[in-house]
Order: sequence, then C-alpha cells, then structure tokens
Amino acid sequence: MLTTRELQDEIIRLKKENDVCILVHAYQSQDIWEVADYVGDSYGLSVKAAESDASTVIMCGVRFMAETVKILSPDKKVILSNPQAGCPMADQMDAELVSALKEKAPDHKVVCYINTSSELKTVCDACVTSSSAVKIIRNMDAENILFVPDCNLGEWVANQVPEKNIKLVQGGCPVHFRITTDQVKEARALHPDALLAVHPECKPAVTAMADYAGSTTGIMDYCRNSDAKEFIIGTENSIVQHLQFECPDKKFYPLSKECVCPNMRLTTLPQVYQCVMGTGGEVIELDEDVRIKAKECIDTMLTLGK
Ligand code: 13P
Ligand code: SF4
Repeated sequence: MLTTRELQDEIIRLKKENDVCILVHAYQSQDIWEVADYVGDSYGLSVKAAESDASTVIMCGVRFMAETVKILSPDKKVILSNPQAGCPMADQMDAELVSALKEKAPDHKVVCYINTSSELKTVCDACVTSSSAVKIIRNMDAENILFVPDCNLGEWVANQVPEKNIKLVQGGCPVHFRITTDQVKEARALHPDALLAVHPECKPAVTAMADYAGSTTGIMDYCRNSDAKEFIIGTENSIVQHLQFECPDKKFYPLSKECVCPNMRLTTLPQVYQCVMGTGGEVIELDEDVRIKAKECIDTMLTLGK
C-alpha cells in the first residue's frame, strides 16, 4: 500500500502526464490541497475553470462546482471526484419552482446563488457566489431582485445594497443554519480576545455578531492578514484546521463543533488518484441547450464580478 506522500507524488506525476488540472474547494482536506493546481472559494474556482487550458479537469468539491466547469468548458473532460458529493442547498429548488416565482414577480430580475443546479440557472438572469454577490447585485441594471435559494446570504447582501429591492425566499445551507447566537455568546465568553469570522450562509443574527463575514477565501485572508492572535471560525470546520496549519503562531476555534458538511468530506485522496488514472469519479455531461442557457447566467457573474 502506498503512503499518503507516495500517492500524492503519483497523482502529481499522472496529472502532468495526462494533461489534468485539479481544482479543489477550500473545504477539502489538506492531503487533497497539496495535489491541487488551485485551491479556493466558489468564485475563484469558476474563474480558474474558465482560464484552464488542460484537457481534463478534476473538481474536488460538490456537483454544482463540477457542472460550472463543464458549462464554461464544454470541450474538456470534467470529472467530479466523488459522484455522491452534492449540495443539499442546490437540491432545495428546481427550475419549475423558480419559474413559478418569476411569474409572481415579473418586474424582478432573478439572481441565483451558484449553489444551484444547471437547470435552475437557465431561468435566472445572473448567478453569484458569496464573495461576489454584493458587487454583482450592486452593478446589476435592475432595481428589483428576486434572490434564490439562500435567504441568509440574500439578507446579508440586502443589508449592504439598500438601494435595491431584494425579495428573498426561504432556503439555505443546512450546515451553516445550525449555528446559533447562543454558540456565539459561549465562544466569545470562552475566548474573549478572539475575533469572530463567519460565512454569510449563517443566520443573519449570527452574522450580525461577527467581526468579519465573507467567503471561505475571504475568511482565510482575513485571519492570515490580521494582527490578532485568536479567531473563532463560523464555517465548515476544515477551515479551522487549514488556518491552524498555515498560521501556527495563531489560535483558531470552531464556532460550532457540528459545522461539518458531509458532502464536502466525501472525497478522499485515493479517489483523486482513481480520477487521474481515468477510472474514478463521474464524468459530467450536460444537455447542450441547458449548458448554453446556464452559461449566460455564469458569464454575467464573471463579467460583473471582475
Ligand atoms: P464559498 O463561496 O465560500 O466557496 O462557499 C461555498 C459553499 O458551499 C459554502 O458553504
Ligand atoms: Fe452546500 Fe452548505 Fe455543504 Fe456548502 S457547506 S456544499 S452550501 S451543504
């Protein structure tokens, strides 16, 4: 049996030999980070997906991220590292439901979070990520916005873009939803000198208590660049481990021990190895009409988010 290091060396050798690019979401484990061509948040991954010139892309993350790569690069072979890795938030709404909501709000432009299916994106005007949402909605040529599916992220955006009328619907991330204001009070009492950084998928009452709210990359940059020595982290707990590894002179505490995304934890290093060998993961295929329509929505994000 190969050691982790030997497996990583094999993956790195094979990806060069087979013209493979490995894109890794920040919630993946350290052993997978170390074989990546790029690690980042959903927005960074989309930008890299549009730029990459490798013939095969392996996405270590969840399904909507792999679909985004395929939408932007139809001629590439796009592999989702673990076929079971979905995002429960992306399954909360479908295109039919959003079309029905649109009919009730005909004077609204529809903006969806990137954590949605390709089919849902076909009925939306623009798509956003947590790190780009404020900028994109501010820059959109529309006063009335219907935002789906994450009402927590939507409220966080609405507070920062008061000049727009943003209509929200009930939906969101079940992992971040579990974090409570009581947990914030407990963590602050235990670590009075620590700064609190949270993901805007948390409930608005939790986000309002934070020193910083932003995407996974945003949270990591905030902690890396801050002079403070202690931080409470309100997002998937893998980020606590990555930060502790990168910044050994600082201390990082999880806001909630339950903030673990089972889907983001599904991919393992041996599965990444199977993918570079061409024998693992799922090759993403999309209906061409769906891909073209969904691409308009993602292109708007990449243009307005620059
Ligand atoms: P980011 O935009 O921070 O990558 O968020 C993606 C995600 O799924 C967070 O739960
Ligand atoms: Fe989806 Fe939440 Fe997991 Fe992110 S953390 S992939 S939004 S379930």
